[in-house]
Amino acid sequence: MQQFVSVSDVSDINQLVQQALLFKSNPLQHHAFAKGKRIGLLFLNPSLRTRLSTQVAASNLGMETIVFNVDKEGWALEFEEGAIMSGNTVEHIKDAAPILGSYFDVLAIRTFPSLKNKDDDYSEMYISQFIKYAGVPVISLESATLHPLQSLTDIITIQESWQQQATQKKPKVVLTWAPHIKPLPQCVANSFAEWMLAWGQADFVITHPEEYELHTKFTKGATITHNQEEALQNADFVYVKNWSTFTDYGKVYNNDTHWMLTLDKLQTTHAAKIMHCLPVRRNVELSDEVLDSNHSLVTTQAGNRVWAAQAVLYDILSAGYTK
Ligand code: CP
Repeated sequence: MQQFVSVSDVSDINQLVQQALLFKSNPLQHHAFAKGKRIGLLFLNPSLRTRLSTQVAASNLGMETIVFNVDKEGWALEFEEGAIMSGNTVEHIKDAAPILGSYFDVLAIRTFPSLKNKDDDYSEMYISQFIKYAGVPVISLESATLHPLQSLTDIITIQESWQQQATQKKPKVVLTWAPHIKPLPQCVANSFAEWMLAWGQADFVITHPEEYELHTKFTKGATITHNQEEALQNADFVYVKNWSTFTDYGKVYNNDTHWMLTLDKLQTTHAAKIMHCLPVRRNVELSDEVLDSNHSLVTTQAGNRVWAAQAVLYDILSAGYTK
C-alpha cells in the first residue's frame, strides 16, 4: 500500500483485518521491523484515540513517532494553489510538506472539514495537497470526508466478535443516525458505509431521518430506510453515529431526539452488539443503560484502533515506498 486515505487504497480488506488480529494476539511480533523509521503525526484538529493508538502501534513496530499539533503550534498553512497570501495564512503547503517529508518516512494527518463549503470539503483539498507535496506515504487520521483507520477498526471488531459466534451466516449490520447538539462531519458514516460495501461480508442497512441523506458515492448499494424501528429488527450489530446534513450542508436540526438509541429499542434485535467510534455524548446519542450494558463493544472497538494502525503501518512499510 502506497498511502491510506480511503478503502480504495486497500487491495485486500480481509488480509489487512487478519494481520491486525495477528498483531492483537502478538503485539510485539515484529518489534524491530521499523527500527530507524520515523512517523510524523500532524493534527489540525483534536484527538484522543487516533493519536495515542497510532503512537502505540508505531512503538510496537520499533518506529519513532513525533506528534505536531499544527493547529496550535505551527504556522497557519495555506492550501490553495496560486493564493495571494496577504491574509492570515503564513506558510504554503507547497513549502511545508516537502520539508516534513524530508524529516519523516511516513506522514499521518488529521484534517477535519469546515462544514461550511461542501465543494471545498468534498474535494479533500487539505489531505490531497499533503499527498501531492510530501513525497512520502501519507496516512489519513481522518480527513474532510473519510476516517479509514476507524472503519478498518470497525470491520476488525465486527469480524472478531462475529467469529466468536462461529456461524456461517452474514451478520446484519445497521448504521443508525443519532442526535447531537452540534454539527459533526459525515466522515465516520461515509467511511463506514464505503468500507462495509467494499467488504461485502454483512447485510448492511443505513437508517436516518429524511434530512440526513449521505452522499450516494459512499452509500450506493446499501439498504437505506428512514424507519429506525424497522432497520433494527434482527440486527446483529448497531453502529450509532451522528452526522450533520449533507444536502443542506453542515446543519443539525434539533427535532429528532427520539432517534437516541435506548435499551428497549434493542428488543427486536439479535441481542445486537453496539458500536460507536467515540467520543460519545451520553444520553444524547446513546443512553447510559446501553453504553454500560453487555451490548456495548465500544471499549473493545477503541482498543482495536491500535491493531488497525499497526497493520496499516506494517503494510505501508513492507511495500517499500518509504525512503
Ligand atoms: N474515534 C476517533 O477518531 O477518536 P479521536 O477523535 O479521539 O481520535
